[in-house]
Amino acid sequence: MCVKRTFPRRARPACDPTTRTDQATNRTRTQVGIVGAGPAGLLLSHLLALRGIDSVLVEIRSRAYCEARQRAGVLEDGSVRLLREAGLAARLDQQGLEHGGIYLQFAGERHHVDFRELTGGRTVTVYAQTEVVKDLIAQRIAAGGSVHFEVTDTAVSELTTDRPVLRFTDAAGVTREVTCDAIAGCDGFHGICRPAIPPDTLTVRERDYPYAWLGILADVPPSTDELIYAHHEDGFALHSLRSPTVSRLYLQVAPDEPMQDWPDDRIWAELARRFALPGSGWELQTGPVLEKGITPMRSFVSAPMRYGRLFLAGDAAHIVPPTGAKGLNLALADVAVLAPALDALVHGDPGLADAYSQTCLRRVWRSTHFSWWMTTMLHRSPGAGPMEAELQLSQLRYVVDSRAAATSLAENYTGFPELDTHLPTAH
Ligand code: FAD
Ligand code: PHB
Repeated sequence: MCVKRTFPRRARPACDPTTRTDQATNRTRTQVGIVGAGPAGLLLSHLLALRGIDSVLVEIRSRAYCEARQRAGVLEDGSVRLLREAGLAARLDQQGLEHGGIYLQFAGERHHVDFRELTGGRTVTVYAQTEVVKDLIAQRIAAGGSVHFEVTDTAVSELTTDRPVLRFTDAAGVTREVTCDAIAGCDGFHGICRPAIPPDTLTVRERDYPYAWLGILADVPPSTDELIYAHHEDGFALHSLRSPTVSRLYLQVAPDEPMQDWPDDRIWAELARRFALPGSGWELQTGPVLEKGITPMRSFVSAPMRYGRLFLAGDAAHIVPPTGAKGLNLALADVAVLAPALDALVHGDPGLADAYSQTCLRRVWRSTHFSWWMTTMLHRSPGAGPMEAELQLSQLRYVVDSRAAATSLAENYTGFPELDTHLPTAH
């Protein structure tokens, strides 16, 4: 196998003159300032380094916190290809679990939707976001990347000039100022970058859902070979997994549900009820609960994803409800587009940067629609009557009975449109 390396520029030497510190004033110069060490910020700093672009990444939390934060678990086909082509897939290739479909369960029946067969061989891979983040942090540290954890007072300014400034106080209490060519706001939904943009320049589209997910991580082998998405008259349930010995399960609950009302026994009993298949002999295996938490559900898109020299990526710009398993994948897809755009911009060509928002929003809206569609098809809305329930069941039956409908779900779930990684391909 030969790998074609066609990066436009060579990686800079370790003593890169574009990153220098003025000890007296704690002023630093870099090409790209990155806020947030989630999947978007970390992958962006790596993709930029592959192109010889220098970055400084700041993160409010500790490294241990970032590596332990339980979130998504499913990587699309294109996300796996991106991580592989970027040289980040050693552990993913060993430990990731390739899945060729999902089960849709409703009206006491469980149906397999076969992605491989419907999409000409496309799959998804179960590999937890915690592991993606661990791999990315390890790579950035090993490469000598500038990553500051446990910063405070992060602020961005001078955004409409060609020298935007990133300010923060580092873990040792030193106040730092980094002059950049561009700043990437990868600081999630509650970060400081989107609020730094004048609100009258942004169009926000938003929907809150009247339910939440109670998620558990359990020390028990999965009771299923593929993820189960279950529609039930008392609410949605999802059986996912993290490894051959660890399961991840979710239950639809009210958004204001107190966690203390859900002791482990109640969670297992409710999951068993919602996944039950009377007469099939199938049983949900239970085990010690390692972690539990409640996640609200929201659709949110803020456009454009750019203001001057500030570029937003991932959850900083958009949020989807987790039913379509899209949040992490969108974050990775954004920075695959952003890295070449910033490369061109810092070398004097603004074309890709000017197209960045529009390019990303096309995929963002496709995933936003798919996530909304999966969510509303599978959850029970408070106050919904028999009419709504029959419409949901009719939609679910159509998906499993019609090849066209099943193909639509399969191509969206595995990732649509197909991701251009903007990286050289192995051949
Ligand atoms: P994030 O992962 O949120 O990273 C942003 C980073 O910025 C964080 O590390 C944060 O600490 C840091 N930051 C914030 N403010 C500052 C600041 N002022 N200065 C410096 N750093 C800052 N998606 C799914 O597909 N399936 C799921 O099951 C799922 N579950 C989720 C559960 C929860 C509780 C949440 C919040 C999200 C979940 N998601 C899920 C969504 C998915 O995890 C996100 O879409 C993904 O993490 C987006 O990556 P990101 O890098 O854009 O943002
Ligand atoms: C997960 O494994 O955490 C997971 C899987 C599929 C989803 C959401 C979350 O749709």
